[in-house]
Amino acid sequence: MNEIVTQRFSLAGRTVLITGASSGIGAHLARLAARSGAQVVLAARRVSRLEQLALDIEWEGGKSLPVAMDVTSRASVEAVFDAAEAHFGVIDVVLNNAGIGNGQRPLEISEEDWRAMLSTNLDGVWRVAQVAAQRLVKAGRGGSIVNVASILGLRVGTGYSHYCAAKAGVVQLTKSLALELARFGIRVNAIAPGYFRTEMNEEFFDSEKGNDYIRQLVPMRRLGELSELDGPFLLLASNAGSFMTGSILATDGGHLLSSL
Ligand code: NAI
Repeated sequence: MNEIVTQRFSLAGRTVLITGASSGIGAHLARLAARSGAQVVLAARRVSRLEQLALDIEWEGGKSLPVAMDVTSRASVEAVFDAAEAHFGVIDVVLNNAGIGNGQRPLEISEEDWRAMLSTNLDGVWRVAQVAAQRLVKAGRGGSIVNVASILGLRVGTGYSHYCAAKAGVVQLTKSLALELARFGIRVNAIAPGYFRTEMNEEFFDSEKGNDYIRQLVPMRRLGELSELDGPFLLLASNAGSFMTGSILATDGGHLLSSL
């Protein structure tokens, strides 16, 4: 690749925090960030998985720090930023990816289910973004926050009223923070993935019903490959996206366009 292009997409010298790095999209993009030159803070609740990922990254010549984080706890989030700063320095880039995604019918969602969904998928994203921004501003540095929303934050689907509400919140939060943090040199964007097979949904997408759903509703008639999130993530995280803030990048094989 042309050297100028490579440099623009590089994360060399950056400290990147990936929340929900223990599986799926987070684990994949953590590996990518390390390969792109970043020192990567791997955060999630399942530390043994993070430690394994850190070993893989080290094996490939990358640098990472596995740390326990529960995005629903302010103290836990602050502790991760403290540990990261002590180890690598101020976090420059955040992938706000931790999330849960269990489907439920609207009449069956309990107060606890609703709270758990909003608490992880919306409050958690806000909390991590706020702490990241507070520390960047204090350090007098710019940075990039990339939130993982969903096409269900832009349209709706059955069985996901709580998830759709949380992800729509992430979309609006992304735009609001982009508006207010631009003056500090902090960019805030979101990726809105369509469907990618991960632990969150593998049971459904391994079923015939899941296969039919994808064939009928996704114009490209297939699930996404995790590597197809590499471009959107690097664009938003690196200098390649230096004039982008408040963007919501759908990465969905055209799913949002499915005919009404
Ligand atoms: P996943 O279940 O493999 O990963 C979710 C990660 O978040 C796991 O590492 C999990 O441990 C972590 N997590 C959950 N609650 C947490 C908490 N309280 N504190 C810290 N970490 C926590 O699923 P996937 O698919 O990789 O999901 C990643 C993000 O992508 C989620 O925000 C999800 O909503 C979003 N997404 C996924 C899509 C898909 O088709 N896989 C589609 C659209 C959005």
